[in-house]
Amino acid sequence: MSQTNIEKHWWHNKIAYEIYPKSFKDSNGDGIGDLPGIISKLDYLKELGIDILWICPIYESPLVDQGYDIADYYKIMDCFGSMEDFMTLLSEAKKRDMYIIMDLVVNHCSDKHTWFTKALEDPTGEYGKRFYFERGRDGREPSNYRSYFGGNMWERVPGHDDLYYYHSFAKEQPDLNWNNPVVVQAVYDMVNWWLEKGVAGFRIDAIINIKKDTSFPSYEPDGPDGLCETEKIVSNALACRDNESIGTMLAKLRANTFAKYDAFTVGEVFNMEDGVLEEFIGKNGHFSSIFDFSLHLLTNCEHGWFASHRITFEELKQTIIQSQLQTQDVGFMANIIENHDEPRGLNIFLPEWIDREAGCKLLGTIMVMQHGIPFLYQGQEIGMTNIKLDDINAYNDINTIDQYHQAIERGFSKEDALALCNLYSRDNARTPMQWSDETEGGFTTGTPWFPVNPNYRQINVAKQMDDPTSILSFYRALLALRKNKIYENVFVYGRFEPAYEEIKDVFAFYRRAEEGYALIVSNWGKENITIELSDEDTRLWCMLDNMAEDYKLGTALRASMAQKEAQKSITLKPGQVRVYG
Ligand code: GLC
Ligand code: CA
Repeated sequence: MSQTNIEKHWWHNKIAYEIYPKSFKDSNGDGIGDLPGIISKLDYLKELGIDILWICPIYESPLVDQGYDIADYYKIMDCFGSMEDFMTLLSEAKKRDMYIIMDLVVNHCSDKHTWFTKALEDPTGEYGKRFYFERGRDGREPSNYRSYFGGNMWERVPGHDDLYYYHSFAKEQPDLNWNNPVVVQAVYDMVNWWLEKGVAGFRIDAIINIKKDTSFPSYEPDGPDGLCETEKIVSNALACRDNESIGTMLAKLRANTFAKYDAFTVGEVFNMEDGVLEEFIGKNGHFSSIFDFSLHLLTNCEHGWFASHRITFEELKQTIIQSQLQTQDVGFMANIIENHDEPRGLNIFLPEWIDREAGCKLLGTIMVMQHGIPFLYQGQEIGMTNIKLDDINAYNDINTIDQYHQAIERGFSKEDALALCNLYSRDNARTPMQWSDETEGGFTTGTPWFPVNPNYRQINVAKQMDDPTSILSFYRALLALRKNKIYENVFVYGRFEPAYEEIKDVFAFYRRAEEGYALIVSNWGKENITIELSDEDTRLWCMLDNMAEDYKLGTALRASMAQKEAQKSITLKPGQVRVYG
């Protein structure tokens, strides 16, 4: 079999792009990105080669966790625009054959959601049953769970001595009780309401957390705070067989909502049990796709920076290879380099000897040419970098502030704890999009809600737009190649197969389909590397080269046709990547 054996769906050949609305484009000078701002950039995104836009939460929210704390699932928050703006976004996207997916955050809501405010008034009443309220044990919290954002997952209910509610994330994000059919039905109704409006699907937040072990046992503490980490709690909850299993919960969610609309869904799934990938993304799986976090889990930065380490090239290569080989016959993973919870990819994945621009193109090529659905994150296409902030008070992200204090509690100096923030903070990816070298990077005419990275004068869209060798031009060529009709079966459905594995510092792989194949080959070392090609590969032509003079695809194809001579060997400079086909 030369090709992965997967039932075809409309989203397989699509390219997705994540928008962090607060930081994308401000249209009215209040310093906050908004829906009209997104609409004004649809042509830009279309030209780049994007089909699906994932919009991070824009619902009514106190923004304790930047919109992942929803107070009203049916309302667009004023600072982002109106429902009318949203409907315009949908229709403008449709005109351009683009799809909008929303962020579905239903493990928890905001403590300002009316369900929760009513629950606080009467924790044992109807609304109380929509959350998890528990009595304390031995005069303490019901169990010793550390929330993702620090502190105990159990928060004492104001006005009650011995009553607590459960929150996996911040205390302002109470978890919804998915064992209550009223909650479940309300989620179905809300999801269908958005699908009826015309959204193409959802990115589904922290969905694995909905499964609880409702006996809430305590575990062996793993830190000075006497608490046990979230990962362990979630894994144990998944294995717990009281109530419905996560599989049943998700299958029912799909059947009652997404399946009826042929919606595209991508799950944020951590801690999946072994052997259930097929159930999640296989034929009739719970989701169309789930994110491949395998690289990011290696740096372990999301839930504990002090435990993190710099990833080496060998680790990166082996991790990608393993993930591709394990998943490609089952379904489509969603491939990312960065997102709104991760630092900028070039800051964590590239060896320091690789030139930044070449390196961005290299990372992009490896990501886009794999099997799966590429998910770009805003700014990745121009090589936006982490931001260096000199003071913990300059950070906004709730998780960063907690990680900083946890690092200090564990003996790090202030300087070292701050250096960790500079490297791993979620705020690194949340700085405003750099559109031009005008004031505030062309993001806003007012004062941005969060500082624009001062490097916007060098790194911005306007500057890269007409430069044929820019990262942006390269991404356009890369996405065009990936979507080229002649190669569709190769790049979308072709089998991933590692190539030239024994050559040190080289990362190469094939994508093989019945009608042909491509070879992606790159040099991550400090020196030039010459590769003797196999007989079969000597017949290939170079279709894209990150060190070429011009990335316009036509030019690249014509140029390579002109030198159709078979090549016995190729030499790659440090940081160079080529796509042959
Ligand atoms: C997900 C989101 C993250 C958020 C968390 C809680 O991990 O990506 O930004 O803080 O869920 O909703
Ligand atoms: Ca605005």
